[in-house]
Order: sequence, then structure tokens, then C-alpha cells
Amino acid sequence: MSRVLIIGSEGQIGTQLSLALSKIIDFDNLFLSDICDQSKTDLKYLRVDALSYDDLKKNILDNDITEVYHLAAILSAKGEKDPMRTWDLNMNSLFNILNLAKEKIIKKVFWPSSIAVFGDNSSKNNTPQFTDKEPITVYGISKLSGENWCKYYNERYDTDIRSIRFPGVISYDTPPGGGTTDYAVDIFHSFKSGKIYNCFLKEDTTLPMIYIDDVINSIIKLMKTPKDNLRIKSSYNISGFSMSPKMIAEELININKEFKVEYNSDFRQKIADSWPNSIKDKYAREDWGWKENFDFKKTVNEMITKLNMK
Ligand SMILES: NC(=O)c1ccc[n+]([C@@H]2O[C@H](COP(=O)([O-])OP(=O)(O)OC[C@H]3O[C@@H](n4cnc5c(N)ncnc54)[C@H](O)[C@@H]3O)[C@@H](O)[C@H]2O)c1
Repeated sequence: MSRVLIIGSEGQIGTQLSLALSKIIDFDNLFLSDICDQSKTDLKYLRVDALSYDDLKKNILDNDITEVYHLAAILSAKGEKDPMRTWDLNMNSLFNILNLAKEKIIKKVFWPSSIAVFGDNSSKNNTPQFTDKEPITVYGISKLSGENWCKYYNERYDTDIRSIRFPGVISYDTPPGGGTTDYAVDIFHSFKSGKIYNCFLKEDTTLPMIYIDDVINSIIKLMKTPKDNLRIKSSYNISGFSMSPKMIAEELININKEFKVEYNSDFRQKIADSWPNSIKDKYAREDWGWKENFDFKKTVNEMITKLNMK
């Protein structure tokens, strides 16, 4: 029986991952942790700074944790405001977990990477698992380095670190944490409150995206797969669908003709332009049976339903 710790449980992905794991793991075997004082949930919660190796180790040993989902990070757009802090959190918190895995204190780890590992010279369409990568953000640099370190630990120390390169995540309940694809969540909230949406990307900027339920399914599916099936020791490409701000705007205007979107691109446009338009995820499909459930239309419908229900 695994005893599980989620680090960064209060963020956009952590909130839904906590909920999903609480349905398949006994209450006593699931622990959430974050830097904030308390959790939004009634699940067992530990306040742990992922940058403190001693604190992490103590909490992991005290609670007999065997499996860690390490989600704490500073994302792409926010990361550009303080590159050194971003590098520090994204890399050193990962090293803490990698070293606990190397010491065999924890047996299995999930750590998310991002399409931010790709850069201007990566192929743009159907970007494959293996292609040139020169990320232009500190976030992308930290994720690409992190991926290589995961591979290094897996091969050199026989650890079991698993990872997925997520596209932009669309979710309804927790606001996104400062990424370049945040517009795809913000636009729904403006629509709901009847405000004009001021989009920070150009209308035709096409990026790979994924709905939160698919994110959670992918994590659970990858973690259940026998280790020997996994050919990628760094991080798996996965794809949901691709879309542009204009595509969502048109769907929302179809529902309410009064809704207006203005386009005033800022520094995030350059980041978005360096990322792929779409992702090829052959290895995830072949190795662990990845298949998305949500395409663009289904995601838009789901967001509208979920936000109206609130
Ligand atoms: N959301 C996306 O679109 C997306 C896409 C690709 C990859 N990812 C990756 O998924 C992971 C989770 O992303 P998210 O969108 O949920 O991020 P988020 O910013 O919403 O959540 C991150 C959480 O980490 C916590 N945290 C920050 N510093 C900490 C520390 N020192 N110790 C413990 N916790 C700390 C924050 O309080 C926050 O709750 C990140 O690694 C991110 O890079 C996210």
C-alpha cells in the first residue's frame, strides 16, 4: 500500500489531483503539502517548504511516505519576473526529491515538466518527443534541466521518477499560477462576469492545451504503468488539443453576442511564439496507453457547465 505526499497541493493541478487521489487512496495514506498555512480541503495537510531538504525528509520519514507528486514550481510568465528565484525553487526542490529517491527513502515520484522545454528552433507542428530544444524562459530552462536530471537519476541510481510535459492546463476551480496560457482560463471568468476580456496574446496564437481532467487521468495512468514499459526516462510528450484565443472567443460570442475580447499582446507573446503549435505524443500512447478524452469543443462546453454550476 503506497503512502502518498502531494507537494504544491493548493495550486491549479494540485487541487484536482488531491481530490482525484482522495477517491482512490485511503484517507490515512494521503498527505497534502504546500507552503501556505492551510489546505482548502479536509484532507491531511502538512505545511512544508519544498526547498528545505531537512523538513521534507522529516515529514516523509515521520509519515512513512513512499510516493511523491512534486508539483511546486514557479511558472513561465511569473518566472520571468524573478529568474533566480524561479531557478532556485524549480531546481532545488526537485533535487531534494531526487536525492530522497536516490537514498531509497521514497520509491516513486511524479514530477511535471512542460512544453516550455521547447524553443524557437524546435519543430512547430506535431512537435516530436526528440527535437532541438532551446527554451527562452528560465522556467523552460529549469524544466529541461529537470528532465535531464530525472533521466540521470533513473539511469544512474535506478530511481523511479516519472514525468509528463504538460501543455497549457485549462481548469475551472483554482486560478492558474502565472503561465503563458492563463488566458484560456481567464477568458471564461470575464465572460461569466460580463466584462470585456483583454487578451495578452494575439488572436491567432495557436498553442497546445489540455483539460484538467485529462491532466489528472494522465498522471494516474502513468503512475500505474509497470516501470519496465516506460522507454522515456526523462519526460513524456502528451497532447490534448490545439487552440487560439480567437477560437475560444468565437465559441463564447456564439453564446452571448455582447461578449467582447480585445487583443493587446505583452511580453508573453514572445514566449508563446517560441512554443509548439501542436504536440506528437506517440511514446505516451504506445508505452502507457495515453488517450485524451477532451477535445476543444468538449473542453469549452465543460468549462461553461462547471462555471455556471458554481
Ligand atoms: N498549469 C499549467 O498550465 C502547467 C503546464 C505545464 C506544467 N505545469 C507544471 O505543473 C506543476 C503544477 O502547476 P500548477 O499550475 O498547479 O502551479 P500553481 O502555481 O498553481 O501551484 C504551485 C503550488 O506550489 C506551491 N509552492 C510554491 N512554492 C513552494 C514551496 N517552496 N514549497 C511548497 N510548495 C510551494 C504554491 O503555493 C502553489 O500552491 C508545476 O510544476 C508546473 O510547472 C503546469
